Amino acid sequence: MKAVVCTRYGPPEVLHLKEVEKPAPKNNEVLIKIYASAVTASDCLMRRSDLPIIMSLGRGLAAGFTKPRRPIWGAVVAGDVEAVGKDVKLFREGDQVYGSTGLRLGAYAEYACMPEAGMMTGCLALKPATMSYEEAAAVPYGAMIALHFMNKGNIRSGQKVLVYGASGANGTTAVQLAKYLGAEVTGVCSTANLELVKSLGADKVIDYTREDSISSLELYDFVFDAVGRRKSSKLKVQCKEALTESGKYASVDGGMPRPRAEYLVRMKQIIEEGHFRAVIDRCYPLEQIAEAHRYVDKGHKKGNVVITVGHGNKP
Ligand SMILES: NC(=O)c1ccc[n+]([C@@H]2O[C@H](COP(=O)([O-])OP(=O)(O)OC[C@H]3O[C@@H](n4cnc5c(N)ncnc54)[C@H](OP(=O)(O)O)[C@@H]3O)[C@@H](O)[C@H]2O)c1
Repeated sequence: MKAVVCTRYGPPEVLHLKEVEKPAPKNNEVLIKIYASAVTASDCLMRRSDLPIIMSLGRGLAAGFTKPRRPIWGAVVAGDVEAVGKDVKLFREGDQVYGSTGLRLGAYAEYACMPEAGMMTGCLALKPATMSYEEAAAVPYGAMIALHFMNKGNIRSGQKVLVYGASGANGTTAVQLAKYLGAEVTGVCSTANLELVKSLGADKVIDYTREDSISSLELYDFVFDAVGRRKSSKLKVQCKEALTESGKYASVDGGMPRPRAEYLVRMKQIIEEGHFRAVIDRCYPLEQIAEAHRYVDKGHKKGNVVITVGHGNKP
């Protein structure tokens, strides 16, 4: 099968398309024929060789110190179950699935094997029936992170929620979920993304690049930093203070969420009821993975960058 192999950390050029052996499922595993994956901000961060020492230690423990322990990169899958191990109970051959392979990686490939359940860092569920494989691949990363941190906000109908960094993978997810929960949502983004964030249902938008943006802040029941500590602005500093007396603040960098299949099942329901749409900035074929990483490295993607896996005969 074709797969993108990465044997050292560094620039996007360390990613190479190669012919490798197709994996076979163990007794508790499913074999997924992958039709779409995604390049996430985390993939790019993990790939780099110039990480600060603390992050480099974290990456070393998770993925290998001097080089990637698992050479096939990529953590998001959308595809079909092609075969199941003899102990698999939750999935059947032919099921359309989506999910995250977590630290097992292996998703930049035509096929990947995953345990059906019980993974510390990955999870799998039936794909939303109303979405294409490409759209489904744009859901798991943002959903895993946004659902985890938004649960901390315990958002109730009528509350005011501010999403800082509303145009990225986590931000576009958070805006839509907060609207779904009945909140009045303010999205913070740059000028270029104001229309996108409004189109996702934000009641108000604030442009963090404007000098007068701080004067638009109100007091919020929940403020969610969806882009993390590496992306900031004068406005972001003020957002932390713009809380009601019982208001809560959460950052995507405030701990490591455990991927949960129940999150994917919940997203499937929300999507099929028509409350959530995939936000795809660009699609690249697997063969252009380095190009996709180069684009995500710039840090300005809108929502998600999806990878399509051809197989020569996609349904
Ligand atoms: N806790 C964990 O385990 C965990 C796991 C994975 C990721 N993370 C965090 O999540 C982050 C990735 O989030 P993501 O995938 O949603 O990011 P992303 O999709 O790469 O975010 C890109 C978006 O951020 C916007 N942006 C750039 N600079 C900004 C600024 N100063 N203020 C507001 N928005 C800005 C960009 O638009 P403009 O440039 O036009 O504004 C772009 O739309 C990681 O960097 C990491 O911090 C945490």
